[in-house]
Amino acid sequence: MFPAEIKFGSGTWAWGDRLLWEYGREYGREDLNAVFQRYLNDGLRFFSTSSSFAEGDSERILGELNARTQVDLLIATKYVPRLWHLRRSDFMEALKQSLTRLQLQKLEIYELCPPVGRMTIQRMAECAAEALDLGLIEQVGLSGYTAQQIDTFNEAFSRFGYSIACLETPYNLLDRSIETDGTLALCRSLNITVIAQQPLAMGMLTGKYDSEAPSSGSRRQMMLRYHTPSLDILLRTMNHIGLENNGKNCAQVALNWIYNKGIVPIPGTKTLSQAIENAQTASWSMSPEQVSLLDTLTGKTDVPVPDEADFPAS
Ligand SMILES: NC(=O)c1ccc[n+]([C@@H]2O[C@H](COP(=O)([O-])OP(=O)(O)OC[C@H]3O[C@@H](n4cnc5c(N)ncnc54)[C@H](OP(=O)(O)O)[C@@H]3O)[C@@H](O)[C@H]2O)c1
Repeated sequence: MFPAEIKFGSGTWAWGDRLLWEYGREYGREDLNAVFQRYLNDGLRFFSTSSSFAEGDSERILGELNARTQVDLLIATKYVPRLWHLRRSDFMEALKQSLTRLQLQKLEIYELCPPVGRMTIQRMAECAAEALDLGLIEQVGLSGYTAQQIDTFNEAFSRFGYSIACLETPYNLLDRSIETDGTLALCRSLNITVIAQQPLAMGMLTGKYDSEAPSSGSRRQMMLRYHTPSLDILLRTMNHIGLENNGKNCAQVALNWIYNKGIVPIPGTKTLSQAIENAQTASWSMSPEQVSLLDTLTGKTDVPVPDEADFPAS
């Protein structure tokens, strides 16, 4: 089971990634050292990475940082099946490479990405069970699986006497599809902890960007899928809720809304100032009425526009 006390974690896609996230230009290793130290100081110990992030550099950076601390971290990384992964040994080799980059003997959580080619769900369930039997991993999670894929994996995996600890999946105020496509309900019924990828909609929910002022670099295209005509009114509502909660900003409101749903957000963090803000995710709570207001605003495609007078001048 995923540890119940972990309510919040850190994503690491941007750690070392030059192509999409501008590592080495907008921020660098010193920033990540500061982010890591700050998170540890604030009690955060869950870090999620992937063998595919920055061609393994995200795992390498996390491994180096982890090797320098005495704090007992909870580290998750991902198995990403490839077309040329044909046998169980290919799975084991990928796992061993991740362990080497992370400087670990054993991995707390191994998350499996959706099946590709001969790496079917059944084969991955077998491989994961073998890795558990060998003591190379402690728990198994899934990443980016649909409800149907989770169901199929669960059936195959339970034959080995094992259960799924967690699911990583996109979830934020601009993408609530898991609430309606059966994923969340299935996870709840199987006691699978849901971990929210892209909790800030790649930055769109921070209020820094919109279609007029998009982010720089290759992230722009991916991020624009989160742009909706109702973004402005949502951000102003979030800003208002933040002001009512001792001056929290939009990013903090976006993360706290997820926290209030019992889902574990893992924001990508590049700088110390972002870490200071994000680390507060689970240390406050917006009111049920505020959660409900955000639910209403984002649960419909034609968002009702509240009265202008309800909002402070931005
Ligand atoms: N396929 C996969 O395995 C997969 C896919 C997607 C995500 N994920 C996981 O989910 C994690 C989170 O998703 P994500 O990193 O794509 O997006 P995200 O967490 O929604 O957004 C992260 C970005 O928002 C900005 N930001 C973060 N904190 C902020 C703050 N307090 N104030 C203002 N801006 C802030 C930063 O970018 P700027 O400073 O540049 O604005 C940061 O890089 C990833 O790191 C990864 O671990 C996994």
